Amino acid sequence: MLDVGSGTGALTRVLRAEAAGDVVAVDADPKLLDHVEGPTVVGDAFRLPFPEDTFDLVICQALLINLPEPVDALREFARVSRDGVAVIEPDNGSVTVDSTVGGESALAGQAREHYLAGVDTDVTLGSDAESILADAGLDSIEVTRYDHDRTISPPYDEADVESARRKASGDGLATDRETMLDGGLTADGYDSLRQRWRQMGRDVIEQMAERTYERTETVPFYVAVGQV
Ligand SMILES: C[S@@+](CC[C@H](N)C(=O)[O-])C[C@H]1O[C@@H](n2cnc3c(N)ncnc32)[C@H](O)[C@@H]1O
Repeated sequence: MLDVGSGTGALTRVLRAEAAGDVVAVDADPKLLDHVEGPTVVGDAFRLPFPEDTFDLVICQALLINLPEPVDALREFARVSRDGVAVIEPDNGSVTVDSTVGGESALAGQAREHYLAGVDTDVTLGSDAESILADAGLDSIEVTRYDHDRTISPPYDEADVESARRKASGDGLATDRETMLDGGLTADGYDSLRQRWRQMGRDVIEQMAERTYERTETVPFYVAVGQV
């Protein structure tokens, strides 16, 4: 199997633990591959450094949402696969947030809308997986949707506390500032959103101190498999 855009190997490790056969991890960023046990190969999803029909299955997770031409990458996957191509991709436009902090869900929705308007790849493509695989010439396509829940509830771990800190400081939102402005949000609109975001973060920290904060974010993921 070939895991394309493996990053630090989250999917590679699952495939190696749960599926029979060897798994090669490929990523454009060699630093990320330092975290993955071999075999690893530095390479570009659009020009994979392998001959035709090298693998039984070519798979990716959360890669296509980052690519300008996902169908071209899938055609390249099909070239190096002699059997199947599988993708695991989210629909980030249909994420929902349920929170004990009033307003967190609506604010997260507003931030997401501004981000979606500015981002230059299709971060919602999971829900179009079937047509994208068909456009790449794959056959016998099967798609399954899974809802991935990320829940924060007491007792809170370090990552939960860090996430609350990033809300209260506004640091988390700042990462997406340029993208939101590219999407048409004005600088004043961003500052207003950030102010409300930071207040929401302070409310989160207050509830955490009282052990009453609970939040579930649900990200729909689509698993699509096609035959070459
Ligand atoms: C969101 S991460 C997903 C990582 C991993 N698949 C996972 O599920 O945790 C996207 C990965 O795709 C890689 N990537 C982006 N563009 C790429 C390209 N053109 N060719 C190969 N890898 C690429 C990035 O370096 C990053 O590691």
